[in-house]
Amino acid sequence: MNRDLDKLHQYPFERLSSLLSEIVPPKELAHISLSVGEPKHSPPSFVEETIAASMHKLSMYPSTKGALEFRQVISDWLKNRFILKDIDANTQVLPANGTREALFAFAQATIDRENHPLILIPNPFYQIYEGAALLSGARLHFLNCNEATGFLTDFSSVTAEVWDACQLIYICSPGNPSGAVLGMTALQELINLADRHNFIIASDECYSEIYYNENNPPTGLLEACAKMQRNDYARCIVFHSLSKRSNLPGLRSGFIAGDANIIASFLRYRTYHGCAMSLITQSASIAAWSDEVHVKKNREKYRQKFQIFQQILGDSLPLNIPDAGFYLWVNILPAGVGNDEIFSRELFSQQNVTVLPGRYLGRLSNNSNPGENYVRMALVATVEECREAAERIKQLIASSS
Ligand SMILES: Cc1ncc(COP(=O)(O)O)c(C=O)c1O
Repeated sequence: MNRDLDKLHQYPFERLSSLLSEIVPPKELAHISLSVGEPKHSPPSFVEETIAASMHKLSMYPSTKGALEFRQVISDWLKNRFILKDIDANTQVLPANGTREALFAFAQATIDRENHPLILIPNPFYQIYEGAALLSGARLHFLNCNEATGFLTDFSSVTAEVWDACQLIYICSPGNPSGAVLGMTALQELINLADRHNFIIASDECYSEIYYNENNPPTGLLEACAKMQRNDYARCIVFHSLSKRSNLPGLRSGFIAGDANIIASFLRYRTYHGCAMSLITQSASIAAWSDEVHVKKNREKYRQKFQIFQQILGDSLPLNIPDAGFYLWVNILPAGVGNDEIFSRELFSQQNVTVLPGRYLGRLSNNSNPGENYVRMALVATVEECREAAERIKQLIASSS
């Protein structure tokens, strides 16, 4: 077997299962999960109808590059959403079966193993970046995101030697778990660094459409390029998904867009990798990317749930409603229940609610795991379940004081 498989860490949800395995939660309380970031709002019915009407496409092999109609819809969506002058559907866009597989595959295709490669990732982070780096043969360099950095990657803290060794950086904006958003200035700073030190930026923007302020959508990497008149998007690739935007995690649909040279090499890799998107999924995706009404309604529900949490728990916990995403990333020490693992165990044991201990999403770097003492609460359940979960968390805190 590939020895690098042994380097992979236990996935956070396996660690959570082990942590909770001996506990029998109260039977009279129904379980509420705030641990997994799986969207639970209903998918748009017109997408389901499109799938039903596309069944005849089962008999056709899709191409890895995807149908031009699919790529054109994506190109139009990107131009409109990120104020781009142009993005060529033929050379600058590819389908992905969700961002997860594309984020993973991207490191395998881009890393040059001969040159002691280094991949930079935020810490805490979406676990795929690390697995992708380890299996690509690269070393990892973590960028700690904590209260002092506004939970953002601080590019100014990285030395020139690290940038020189860096072949690829994953950024996540809006961030999982914090929901913090990298602004235009930070993105442009990173683009300038990429030019100077010759590395690729992989920008995971799968939460870009779940934002709190309707008048302030998160900035994207391609938008930052366009502002700099860099219309070839050199060294920049973005990853987007329908999973969160349109509540379609089971559809497995996303896309990759940016630098045409990188896209061409990645397409070559993907042709052998065998990850063409089914034509049925492409039709459903065209329908979903062409409509914003359902996305706006989706945002309203998350907004409502954040406000409910704030109302119920604002006095007991340091809650900050994030700029975007659907997670609350909460320093749990002031609750007085214990650290992130103890809090998560007690919450399950007393209230049958699951949350994720923040340390499982981070790694020890510079003598600290920035996830420690934080918990991640995914507000994905229904509005009523979220209200109930907030009440139960309040009870746990009250019973411990
Ligand atoms: C930061 C981040 N990136 C990517 C993904 C993968 O999403 P999908 O593969 O459904 O597009 C997730 C899923 O939770 C995520 O949190």
